[in-house]
Amino acid sequence: MRVLFATSEAYPLIKTGGLADVSGALPNAINHLKQFTGDIKILIPGYSAVLAKLKSVHAVAKIDVLGQACTLISGMMPDSGLAVIAIQNSELYERAGGPYSDENGMDWQDNALRFGVLSRVASLLCSDNSPLPNWLPDLIQCNDWQTGLAPAYMKLVDHSTTKSILSIHNLAFQGCFDANWLKALELPAEHFQINGFEYFKQISFLKAGLFYADKLSTVSPTYAQEIQSKQFGFGLEGLLKTRQDDLTGILNGIDTHEWNPASDVHLEKHYSNSRITGKKAVKHALQQQLGLQIDANAPLLGVVSRLTYQKGLDLLPDIIPKLVKQGCQFAILGSGDKVLEAHFNALAELYPEHVSMNTGYHEHLSHNIMAGSDIFIMPSRFEPCGLNQLYGLAYGTPPIVSLTGGLADSVQDTNEMSLKNNTATGFVVKNVNNASLLVTIERAIKIWQNKKTWRQIQKNGMQRDISWDSSASTYLALYKKTLQIN
Ligand code: ADP
Ligand code: GLC
Repeated sequence: MRVLFATSEAYPLIKTGGLADVSGALPNAINHLKQFTGDIKILIPGYSAVLAKLKSVHAVAKIDVLGQACTLISGMMPDSGLAVIAIQNSELYERAGGPYSDENGMDWQDNALRFGVLSRVASLLCSDNSPLPNWLPDLIQCNDWQTGLAPAYMKLVDHSTTKSILSIHNLAFQGCFDANWLKALELPAEHFQINGFEYFKQISFLKAGLFYADKLSTVSPTYAQEIQSKQFGFGLEGLLKTRQDDLTGILNGIDTHEWNPASDVHLEKHYSNSRITGKKAVKHALQQQLGLQIDANAPLLGVVSRLTYQKGLDLLPDIIPKLVKQGCQFAILGSGDKVLEAHFNALAELYPEHVSMNTGYHEHLSHNIMAGSDIFIMPSRFEPCGLNQLYGLAYGTPPIVSLTGGLADSVQDTNEMSLKNNTATGFVVKNVNNASLLVTIERAIKIWQNKKTWRQIQKNGMQRDISWDSSASTYLALYKKTLQIN
C-alpha cells in the first residue's frame, strides 16, 4: 500500500500547532505497524525551515503547476527518516514569517495560490501524469483546508483512481477565497456551485475536500458528532450530515519520543510514574526561570496555547487576581489575540511573583511548563482533539478542561465515583464561563492539597496508553476500508 500524506506543517520541520504534531508522528507510527506493508511519504511545501531541516535532499522533478515553476525535492525527516517530498518554489514558500501569515500575523495575500499549488501537486502525484510515475499512491490522506482542493482536482481534473481521505483537524479554518481565484487555480467553473466547492459565493478549500474526498475523518469521536450540529459545524453541518456514513473520529495520540517525562530532552530532571520526585525539581527550576516565588506549596497552573476564541483563555484574566490571593501561580505561554496577550502581560507586571507571561513560540519552555506545573488549564469552547491535555496526562499534570471534542474523549472528571474506581484523570468545567472555571480551579486545588489523592489522579493519567500505537492501527483500518481491502 502506497500512501501520500499531504500536509501544510509537520514537526520537527515546521510547526504552528497540533497539526504539525500529528503530521510528524502519525505517518511514522503507521509506517512502524507490523500490519502495514507498504510505504508512506509526506508531501509538504518547501518553506525555508523545511528545506534546511530535511536530510538527504535531492531534486527529483521539475514541474509547472498553476503557472508556477516548482521543483520536487525528495528528502527524509531528520529524526524518523520517513520519506518526504517538498515542493520548492522560493517565491511562494521561502519567506520570512510563518507558513500562513507574515511576521505581523497577517495572512499571506496569495494563500489561495500557495495552497492551491500544494493541492494541485498532491493530485498530480496521484495521476497518470505524475512527475514520479514509479510511485503512484493507492491512497492519499489530506489534512485540513490547505490540502482540501486535492480531492477536487483528483476527481474533476486528473480523474485519479487513487482513493482519498480528508482529515479535519479544525473546522474553524476553511480556506475561503474570492471567486476571482477560479482561473488561477485552474478549477472547472461549472463546479463552482452548491454541489461543488462553492461556499457562500467563495471558493472553499475545506468544503471541496469534504465534498470530493472518498472518506472523511476527524481527530476525536465526539468532534465527529459535534460538527454535524449547528453549534460546531461552522455552516458545514449540512454537508457533514449527508456524509455521516463516510465520517469517522479517531482520537490523536502523542509522540512518546518527544513527549515523555522520563526522557524529555528539554527537562533538567526526568521523572516517571514510578519515580515522580523529579517533577518537584522541574517545578523548582521553572519557578526560578520564570521569576516566580520559589515555593513547592504554591499550586502552579500552566497554560500553553494559541490565544484564540477557541481556547477559552479569555476567561482567565478576570479570575487570576482572586486565585493569586489564594496563593496560586500561573505559568502562561501563548500568542495570538493581542488584547488577551496584553491582559496577561499586565497581570504579570502586577503580580510578578505569581504570574508569568511569555508570548511567541518556545518549544523548550512549553515542555517545561507541561512538566513543572501542577495543573494544566484548557477550557476550550471547542476542541477537535487537543494534544496539550494528553501531554498533561502523560506528565502527571492533570488538566482542567471543558466537556467538548477530544477533551471529553480523553479526560475523566474527578468525583467520588471516578476516585473510587481509579479513573479520575482531571477536572471538567461545567460551563465555559469564568465563574465555572474559577469553581473548578478551586476544586482542583483543594484536591491537590491532599497529596495521596492527587498522586492517584496523576497515576491514573500517567498509566493510560495514549501513544499513537492504537490510533495508528485505527487509521490503517480506515485506509483498508477506503481501499476496500481486508
Ligand atoms: P491547536 O493545534 O488547536 O493549537 P493542540 O492542543 O492540538 O491545539 O496543539 C497545540 C500544540 O502547539 C502543542 O504541541 C503545544 O505544545 C504547541 N504550542 C501552542 N502554543 C505554543 C507556544 N506558544 N510555544 C510552543 N508551543 C506551543
Ligand atoms: C487542530 C485542533 C486541535 C487538534 C489538532 C491536531 O489544531 O485545534 O484540537 O489537536 O488540530 O489534530
